[in-house]
Amino acid sequence: MIGPPSIWYVGNGRVAAKRQNEFPKASRFLAFCKKPFLPKQLPISLGIDLSRGILFCILGVYLSAMQPHTFHGFIFLLFLGYCTQVCGQFEQSPTVNKKWWKEAIVYQIYPRSFQDSDGDGVGDLKGIISRLDYLKSLGITAVWLNPIYSSPNDDNGYDVSDYRAIMKDFGTMADFEELLKGLHERGIKLVMDLVVNHSSDEHEWFRQSRSSRNNPYRNYYHWWNAENGKPPYRCSLFDVNHDAWKYDSLTNAYYLHYFSVKQPDLKWENPKLRQEVYAIMKFWTDKGIDGFRLDAFQFAAKDTTYPIFPKGFERDFVNYYAIQGNLHGYLQEMNKEVLSKYDIMSVAEGAGNTFEDGHNLVDEDRRELNMAYAFEGVDIAKPEGYSVLHFKEVFSRWDSAFAEKGWLSIFLANHDQARMVSRFGNDRPEFREASSKMLSTFIMTMRGTPFYYNGDELGMTNAGFERLEEFRDLQTINEFRYAQNTGADLKIVMKRLQFTSRDNGRTPFQWDATANAGFTTGTPWIKVNYNYRTINVAAQQKDPNSCLNYFKQLVKLRQEHPDLLVYGKFTLLDKENPNIVVYTRESQGRKMLILLNFSDTIAKVTIPADLSTATLLLSNYQNKPAHINNVQSHTYTLLPYEARVYTFSTERDPTTNDIWGRGIHRDNATMMRCGMYKGHGLYVRLIKN
Ligand code: GLC
Repeated sequence: MIGPPSIWYVGNGRVAAKRQNEFPKASRFLAFCKKPFLPKQLPISLGIDLSRGILFCILGVYLSAMQPHTFHGFIFLLFLGYCTQVCGQFEQSPTVNKKWWKEAIVYQIYPRSFQDSDGDGVGDLKGIISRLDYLKSLGITAVWLNPIYSSPNDDNGYDVSDYRAIMKDFGTMADFEELLKGLHERGIKLVMDLVVNHSSDEHEWFRQSRSSRNNPYRNYYHWWNAENGKPPYRCSLFDVNHDAWKYDSLTNAYYLHYFSVKQPDLKWENPKLRQEVYAIMKFWTDKGIDGFRLDAFQFAAKDTTYPIFPKGFERDFVNYYAIQGNLHGYLQEMNKEVLSKYDIMSVAEGAGNTFEDGHNLVDEDRRELNMAYAFEGVDIAKPEGYSVLHFKEVFSRWDSAFAEKGWLSIFLANHDQARMVSRFGNDRPEFREASSKMLSTFIMTMRGTPFYYNGDELGMTNAGFERLEEFRDLQTINEFRYAQNTGADLKIVMKRLQFTSRDNGRTPFQWDATANAGFTTGTPWIKVNYNYRTINVAAQQKDPNSCLNYFKQLVKLRQEHPDLLVYGKFTLLDKENPNIVVYTRESQGRKMLILLNFSDTIAKVTIPADLSTATLLLSNYQNKPAHINNVQSHTYTLLPYEARVYTFSTERDPTTNDIWGRGIHRDNATMMRCGMYKGHGLYVRLIKN
């Protein structure tokens, strides 16, 4: 495997790729030379740049004295080159505001299915603690834990009955503190799920609220008095009748639940409720956690006049239920009261309906949240398949909408989706590994903060459940019942659920080939995937070419090149190619080229690049990537699901023919006019000598 080289630049000269340890001193010197500056630090920068310029001159004089015949005009060229570099930095000074949470690689743990420590068949915190070294070995820098708070588990913890206590199945507060400490000791941050669009109906607030119309907690939830007739229809995502209003005879009123009947929606319009939530957030931030993922928060604010939705649109969840009322006002308040007081990250589940909605959630000057995850991309994959053209159109559209401002997460799976490889790749034995690695390559080379779901690093597949009794997810079960009640074709419904059910992503993590995949010594709460004997951590740790080891290399690659892979500009190439997704990431004159074959056949791509001069950093076909078959026409062949990541280690930038490869347009003619055409190679020699 070719390890990722570091690429250095001096002035405008592109220095051939070298490994850091070959020239440690030169490396330090060059790092100093290429140190970027921000326009707002201009006066300081000019001072630094002047001293750098003088240093270049001294070096030039010294070298001229050593080899006078070779270095006629060298000082001039050096100085001119340096000036051009300074100008170049002005032209493309990064506007990005660097943040740890942008550079983070978030690994999502579904605690219920990760590792059981006490044999009750349910994953727990002690189980995660026992796997801390595994997390460290992945190289990830943050963990997002699905809810671990007290819950009757109607929706696996997304129905919270006490926000300040740990779910009994998962352990104790002492376990939580040990887990947090263990993560921090390993340099891993912890992001918690904040489930405050709704609580459990077993939460004390709801018990009080439903007890009488005059109870002080009545206004913590949305009630509609029955003497006013039936409330206007609202759709519920998890209800067996898709009805979000539940009649409660105790007070002759309906309460609202966008999710299950046991998940009543909290009333964000009530300032008292909001203060309760901020206090809960502080409780956890004071414990030292590093962030919140705001569950379903785009639905938190409501138009409490409950207008009647246009006929046919009552179920249009995204358009009619998201980003309503004073949602942004509440987020700004939350930011002021809590988020701004800690160095923590915040991410919204959902980005609204439009780019404007998304920007309003995450643009820094709005002072709301740090980032959001948009669903349009992850929703592309359907049981009948998806179009690669559609895939790249969606992802590049979102990228460009947030290229200058705002920040998004990037993901292809989570606990609400079926498995990444089964939806976006190909889980047939001959393609599973390659397609899973290819998809991981996509996530880890895109702009945005990757949220990577546990088990995808192994290429875990869909569960293969066939009978309703095997499913545990209330959404799946209620969808099936709804179909039964409405006389739908149950065979078709079951087929769809087999592909889409959230349980596909929730089967126990596959640690080894022992009973229950090493997840539990008891009876697992949900069946282990039948393929655990071949797909598991123990086997993959031993295999240098496994999905697991490939994922680790991707993590390393992203961490070694944050300027490119986290912040760098994204450019989609060969947009019309129906099989291959190809793009560049670039920053400060450096580029990477990523080629991904999304199809199960050999496919061709034509790009303006001479790959024979580029360095292959990573490929999922190990030492046998497909042939470069026609360098002249710049047409290349990729094997099924092949992924390749290149960097350019030559003087020419293969994708633009821009000899300087600085990410801005400077053609040869301009360089000739500047008298710089031949100058750039000299620095290479400088280092080699
Ligand atoms: C979010 C969660 C999902 C949960 C729902 C209700 O979408 O990701 O798992 O069921 O909210 O809390």
